[in-house]
Amino acid sequence: MRRTLRLRRMGWEAPGVLSLELVAPEGGELPAWEPGAHLDLHVPGAPVRQYSLCGDPADRRSWRVAVREVAGGRASGLVHKAVRPGALLEAEGPRNNFHLLPAPSYLFVAGGIGITPILPMLRAARDAGAQATLLFCVRSAAEAPFLDEARALCPDVVVHASAEGTRLDVAARLGTPPPDTLVYCCGPQRLMEAVEAATAGWPEGSVRFEWFAPRARPDGEADGGFELALARSGRSIQVAPAQSVLAALRGAGFDIPSSCEQGVCGTCECRVIEGEVDHRDSILSASERAANDVMMACVSRAKGARLVLDL
Ligand code: FES
Repeated sequence: MRRTLRLRRMGWEAPGVLSLELVAPEGGELPAWEPGAHLDLHVPGAPVRQYSLCGDPADRRSWRVAVREVAGGRASGLVHKAVRPGALLEAEGPRNNFHLLPAPSYLFVAGGIGITPILPMLRAARDAGAQATLLFCVRSAAEAPFLDEARALCPDVVVHASAEGTRLDVAARLGTPPPDTLVYCCGPQRLMEAVEAATAGWPEGSVRFEWFAPRARPDGEADGGFELALARSGRSIQVAPAQSVLAALRGAGFDIPSSCEQGVCGTCECRVIEGEVDHRDSILSASERAANDVMMACVSRAKGARLVLDL
């Protein structure tokens, strides 16, 4: 659901990182959310972007997100240079693709601004009495956003600062799965790919990622066209080679919601009844992909000549 929020306060959390405290324009409570949830934020004049809620879920009167200024990033540039307290911003969500599951022990791996979805998880782990370790990868401790807050929430925070010679040796640290431990990782693509490779042999479902940018795809893959059969409406439409499933569905008059259109937010999820999906999103886990019962229509395609959707 789309809503208008008022920016009540902004604050520096680290060089280049601003936190935004958002409230309902007329005051009052906002919807409940759980650790791992994000907002789709519409900054006027910029494409919609996803930002993790990084405050306390018990605070129902305000939401906090943090925005790192990215070179060439229109949304982050506007937030840093033009948006000021009192501004009204449109947002959708909260939506959660990064659920914190109960476990006796957690290993959190955060890179830079990737600490944001992890902060409420540290709070939840503490409140549940679970054991938690945070490996926080940054350029330097002085540039680590929310470091004091993370330390207050978790007694075992290890800062790995590349500029200080303490870069995380991912393969060594995550090579062997500790018992009963879930890993939650968010950060730059390189860090997440390294964690993904190091934990490839861990039990299925024990390592979870939050991607905020589309994952790189191998070069040279040509996209073919295919048929979409729509079971509930009894229609059949063709997806052209250069067209997305989302565009084909909208072209046929289906009102499919979307936000990122990059396979990272989950807004355009469609139920699949038949046919094998070529999953190209950055949300579904290996087992969710194998289940083949949902797809992200903005990026995913058919492996074969036909897909049947529950539409
Ligand atoms: Fe975000 Fe498709 S619109 S995953």
